[in-house]
Amino acid sequence: MTPEPVEITLATLRALKRAGGKFACLTAYDASLARVLDAAGVDVLLVGDTLGMLVQGHETTIPVTLDDMIYHTRCVARARERALIMSDMPFMSAATPAQALANAARLMQEGGAHCVKIEGGRVMADAVRLLSERGLPVCAHLGLLPQSVRKLGGYRVQGREQHAAAELLEDAKILEQAGADVLLLECVPATLAGRITAATELPVIGIGAGTDCDGQVLVLYDMLGVTPGRRPRFSRDFLAGRGGVQAAVEEYVRAVKAGEFPGPEHAYS
Ligand code: KIV
Repeated sequence: MTPEPVEITLATLRALKRAGGKFACLTAYDASLARVLDAAGVDVLLVGDTLGMLVQGHETTIPVTLDDMIYHTRCVARARERALIMSDMPFMSAATPAQALANAARLMQEGGAHCVKIEGGRVMADAVRLLSERGLPVCAHLGLLPQSVRKLGGYRVQGREQHAAAELLEDAKILEQAGADVLLLECVPATLAGRITAATELPVIGIGAGTDCDGQVLVLYDMLGVTPGRRPRFSRDFLAGRGGVQAAVEEYVRAVKAGEFPGPEHAYS
């Protein structure tokens, strides 16, 4: 499968949502794999701060620094031809709106990110607004916030209780109004993710968020079966039974775009 050589932009993602199409995202941390993903038709390369665990060997994403993110974004940017590059704002790099602006600018200017991702709900609205007003694209990451794992006490599904679900829906609206360009929902019940996706004009990327989001992201190492320990429920080993990484990624892109992955067995209720 050869993807169309058209560059993916935020406008592409918005148009896909309006047309009811799906888009495929994967994490990327280095040039060699980013090249394979890009060639296989992955629409968004997420330079996720999961690199702290998967590349650096830390227990959480908390030790990842802005300089780490810039370094890995740069590696990915050198290989990318078509996909949109989204880069994580690491732990506390958006603690104030002014810090968010300065650090997001570095990720874009020095790293080559096209869009930054910020973890947090309404508390991040002022930062998102400032970035949006200054022309920096933002993805707002809601649901399970891995940078808050020490407060949450573990990686758990979020938004199961009625009040928590209402709060998440409200957060999505507040962040859309603040100027977010994309939403990402991590580990939320499938029905709630579907309600949020239907309630916003923004493209919504899901991970552990059921079948109804506009786009899907997986951690690359999970879907290649490299992650040590138990694979998360919402992932699948796409490499098993295939001839190589490129074939596995092509199958992932095909399955997401055809609405075959994720299936109900990958969702939380
Ligand atoms: O850092 C990351 O890889 C992420 C995904 C889990 C969505 O944010």
